[in-house]
Amino acid sequence: MKVDVLLGLQWGDEGKGKIVDVLTPKYDIIARFQGGPNAGHTIEFDNKKFVLHTIPSGIFNKNTTNVVGNGVIIDPFVIKKEIENLKGGDIEVSDNLLISKKAHLILPTHRLLDTVFEKAKGNKKIGSTLKGIGPTYTDKISRNGLRIGNIENSDFDTKYQEARKRHLKTIIQYDPSYELLTIDGLSFPEYEKAWMEALEVVRGLKKINSEYYLNKALDNGQRVLAEGAQGTMLDIDFGSYPYVTSSNTTTAGTCIGLGIAPARIGKVFGIFKAYCTRVGSGPFPTELFDNNGQQLRDIGREYGSTTGRPRRCGWIDLPALRYAIMLNGVTEMMMMKADVLNLFDQVKVATAYNYNGKSSDEIPFDSVNTEIIPEYETLDGWKSELDSIEDYEQFPQALKKYVAYIEKQLNVPIGIVSVGPDRSQTIFTKHT
Ligand code: GDP
Ligand code: IMO
Ligand code: MG
Repeated sequence: MKVDVLLGLQWGDEGKGKIVDVLTPKYDIIARFQGGPNAGHTIEFDNKKFVLHTIPSGIFNKNTTNVVGNGVIIDPFVIKKEIENLKGGDIEVSDNLLISKKAHLILPTHRLLDTVFEKAKGNKKIGSTLKGIGPTYTDKISRNGLRIGNIENSDFDTKYQEARKRHLKTIIQYDPSYELLTIDGLSFPEYEKAWMEALEVVRGLKKINSEYYLNKALDNGQRVLAEGAQGTMLDIDFGSYPYVTSSNTTTAGTCIGLGIAPARIGKVFGIFKAYCTRVGSGPFPTELFDNNGQQLRDIGREYGSTTGRPRRCGWIDLPALRYAIMLNGVTEMMMMKADVLNLFDQVKVATAYNYNGKSSDEIPFDSVNTEIIPEYETLDGWKSELDSIEDYEQFPQALKKYVAYIEKQLNVPIGIVSVGPDRSQTIFTKHT
C-alpha cells in the first residue's frame, strides 16, 4: 500500500482538520508528519467543535489509529490540554494514539526564546504563534534537541537542565528581565511546573518507532493518510522566507516526517480555500484592504484557531496554487469555504502576477521586497445560500462555473467542495 497525503496549498488554515476527519473512515491510520502546536485544526460535528494542535484529526473515529510522527514537535503542556478537551467531549484517547519516540520536545525555554527573538525583530517580526516552533527545530537541526524517547532515560533531568541553562544564557542577553515574561498567561516558574506535570501525561502515552510501525502497516495492506500542518506557502524552503514556519510542509516533508520512501507516496490531496487567507507577516499579493476583505473575514470567521488573531483575507491566487501543485505533486484538490462567497456579486481570481514591468506566472525569488500586482479575471458570484445543497448537481450554475474554471486553470480535478464547517457540509463532486 501507499501513503496518501493531505496538505494545505495556501498559507494554512485551509480546513485540513475538517477534511481529514471526513476522509478518516476510509483509512486505518492517520499520521501527522510535521509542525507542532502552531497548528490549529478545527473539526465540527453533532453541534460539537474541537480544535486539535498535535493530535491527528482522525481521533474521532474509534477504529482509526492516530500517529504523531517523528517530524512533529510536541509540547507536553499543549498535548495534555488537547487530551483533556477531548475527554470533555467524551472522546477517550488511549490505544489509538501513538507517538514517535523520535519526535522532538518543545521545552518551556523554547517558548521564551521564541518570544525574545520575535520581539528583537521589531517591525520585521514573523508573526509567529510563539509556540516555540523555530527554537525547537533549530535545536533539532543543531543536534541539541531532546526527543520523546529521551523522557524514559535516567539522564533526562540532566539533559533538560543542560538545555535550560544553555537557553537561559541566550534569553538573558535578549531580555535581562525575562522573568517577567509570561507563557500562555503563566509566569515562567508556573509554566515550567505545569509543563513538568504534563510530562507525566506524556509518559503515560504509547510511544513507538513510528517509521517501522507505518512501513509494516503498509506491508500488511493498511491504509494510511498523512495529515499536513500549515500550508505550502509557509514551507521553510519554498515559502516567502523568512516569513515562514520552520518545517517542510510539502509532500517531501511526509517522507522525512514519517520515514516513508518517496515511491510509497500515493494520492496527494491539496486543499485550498475558495479565496485566500494568511495570518502573520509576509507577502500576500491578493490581500484585500477594502470592504470585500472585511466581508471575507466576517463571514468566514477568519480568526486564528490557535491564537485568535484576525486573518488577512484576499482573492484566490492561481500562481501560488500552481506553484503549490508543482511542489507537492497534487493529484486531487478540495475547495473549502465556498459558502463564504455566497453574497458576492462578483468573485475575482488572480491568474498571473505583474512585477518588474512584466507579466509572469512565477513567484519572484525576493517576494518580500518585490511589488507584485496581481492580474485578475472576474467571474460572476452565485448569490445564493448553499445550506440545503446535498449534491454537486444542485450547485448554482455560477458556482459550477467557478469550480470548472479553477480546475481548468490548474489542470487538477476538485474532488470535494466544502460548503460549511460541519462534517456534513461536504459535497463530493463528479470526480469522486
Ligand atoms: P486547518 O488548520 O487547515 O485545519 O483549518 P482551521 O481549522 O484553522 O481553519 C478553518 C476554519 O474554517 C475552521 O474554523 C473551520 O471550522 C472552518 N471551515 C472549514 N470548512 C469550512 C467551510 O466549508 N465553510 C465555512 N464557512 N467554514 C469552514
Ligand atoms: P494550521 O496547521 C496558519 C504562521 C504564523 C506565522 C508563521 C510562523 O492550523 O494551518 P510559527 O508559529 O510557525 O513560528 O509561525 O506561520 N502559521 C500558521 N498560519 N495556520 C497554521 O497552521 C500556522 N502555523 C504557523 O502565523 O506567520
Ligand atoms: Mg489552522
